[in-house]
Amino acid sequence: MRDDLDFDFSILITDLNGKILDCNKAFEGLSGYYKKELNDLDIEKIIKKDTLLTRNGNIKIHYDVFPLIKENIVIYIIYDIEKIKEILEENLLILQDAPIPIIELDMEELIDYLNTLRKIIGENLETYFITYPEAIFDFIHKLKVIKVNKFFEKGYMGFSFEKFKENLFNYFTPQSIEIVKREIIKFYNGDKKLDFELEIFDPNYGIKILRCIISIFEEKKAVIYIIDMTEHRHLVRELKRAIAKLEFFSNQIIKTLSSVIENKDSYTANHQRRVADLSKRIAQEIGFSKNKVDAIYMGALLHDIGKIAISAEILNKPGKLTPIEFEIVKTHPLKGYDILKNIDFPPEVLDIVYHHHERLDGTGYPDGLRNGDISLEVGIVSVADVVEAMASHRPYRPPLGIDTALSEIEKWKGIKYYEEVVDVCIRLFREKGFKFS
Ligand SMILES: [Fe+2]
Ligand SMILES: [Fe+2]
Repeated sequence: MRDDLDFDFSILITDLNGKILDCNKAFEGLSGYYKKELNDLDIEKIIKKDTLLTRNGNIKIHYDVFPLIKENIVIYIIYDIEKIKEILEENLLILQDAPIPIIELDMEELIDYLNTLRKIIGENLETYFITYPEAIFDFIHKLKVIKVNKFFEKGYMGFSFEKFKENLFNYFTPQSIEIVKREIIKFYNGDKKLDFELEIFDPNYGIKILRCIISIFEEKKAVIYIIDMTEHRHLVRELKRAIAKLEFFSNQIIKTLSSVIENKDSYTANHQRRVADLSKRIAQEIGFSKNKVDAIYMGALLHDIGKIAISAEILNKPGKLTPIEFEIVKTHPLKGYDILKNIDFPPEVLDIVYHHHERLDGTGYPDGLRNGDISLEVGIVSVADVVEAMASHRPYRPPLGIDTALSEIEKWKGIKYYEEVVDVCIRLFREKGFKFS
C-alpha cells in the first residue's frame, strides 16, 4: 500500500476502465474487503451512485464519493459526511492533515446581524435581497476566517492563507455571489446543512469549481470543507467536446460518402438526400430515440451507395432495362454493404443498405426476407425510397407525382410495407405538410 494513502478518509484507486488498483487501510476498514481481494474487482461492484457495498452486503447510503482523475488513474475519496461533521464539530485540529482544504469560520457577527434583521423584516430575507441586492456584501464581510488546515495553508488553490484571510470573497465570480445569497437565505430559514458549488477565480489557474460542504456548530462557528471539482468538470466538458467533434467528423464523412455518387449519377445523390429527410421524419413520428433516428437517417443517406459500382449507362438509361441489366442493378444493396461493412456504423445503417429492397411478402431482394425478418428501421427506408422514387423524375420516365406514390404504398399496406409506416408517411404528406425539398 502506498504511504501517501494513510489518511482517515477512505481512498480507492482505479484505472480509467474501473479496475481497482489500490486502496488505503481506512477503505479496508470501511468496506470489510482486503486490498488483495479488491484487486480483481471492478469499481462498479463496490461503488454505485451514492452507495457503497460492504463485505456483508450492507449498502451505506450516506457516503459521498468524489472521483478525481489524475495521470490515468481515478482516485475515489469516500467521505462519511455525518462522521466528518461530528469530527469537525469536536475539533478541527483532527483534520489538520486531511487531504482536502478546510476553513474554520467565525459566524458570530453575521448571526447577530441576521437576528437584528429578523426583528425588522421578519422571515422574508429573499424579498429583502430583491430590494437591496448589494446587501449580500455586508453579509459576507461579516464572516471571519479563524483558521485553515495545512492543506489549505500550502496554497492549494493558489491562495496562501494570509491572502485568503484578507478578503474571503474577493475571488468569487458574480454567479458565486448569487449562490452565496441563496445559501444565506437557506441558513436564515433554518437550514444547517449547506452543500453547494462555487466558482472561484484563482489568479494562477483561472476559474475553479469548488464544492463547499458547511457544517455549522455551537451556533456561532462554521467549518467549510472544500472539494475541488474543477478537473472532474473539465473532464466531463472535454469528453462532451470530443464526442461532439467525433459526431461532426462522422457526419462529414457520411455526407461525403453520400455525395461520392453525385458525379456519376446525380439522380441517386438527390434521391438519397430526400429519402433520408422523409425517413427521418417518419422515424421521429413513430417515436424512435434520437440515436435511432440518426442511424436511420444515415442508413437512408447511404442506402443506394452500391450504385457507384454499376455502370453509368445502365443507371442513366432512358428506356426500360433488359432483364440482365435489371439483375445488375439488383446487386447494388450487396455492393453498398461491401463498401460500408468495414466502417464502424451503427448496425441499422448496414441493415438498411443491405435490405431496403426487401418486402414483407417475400417478393423483395436480395434475400427474399419476410415480415418479422425485416426490421422496422428498414421498413421505414423502404417506404420512403418507393415514395421518393415514384414522386420524382427518373431517367426513364417523368415524375408520377406524390398522389400516385402515396396510392402505391396504400395499396400494399400490410402486404409489402409495414402498416404503421405507411400510415405515418401518408399523414406526413396529407396532414402535416411534408414536402420533398
Ligand atoms: Fe435501392
Ligand atoms: Fe433508393
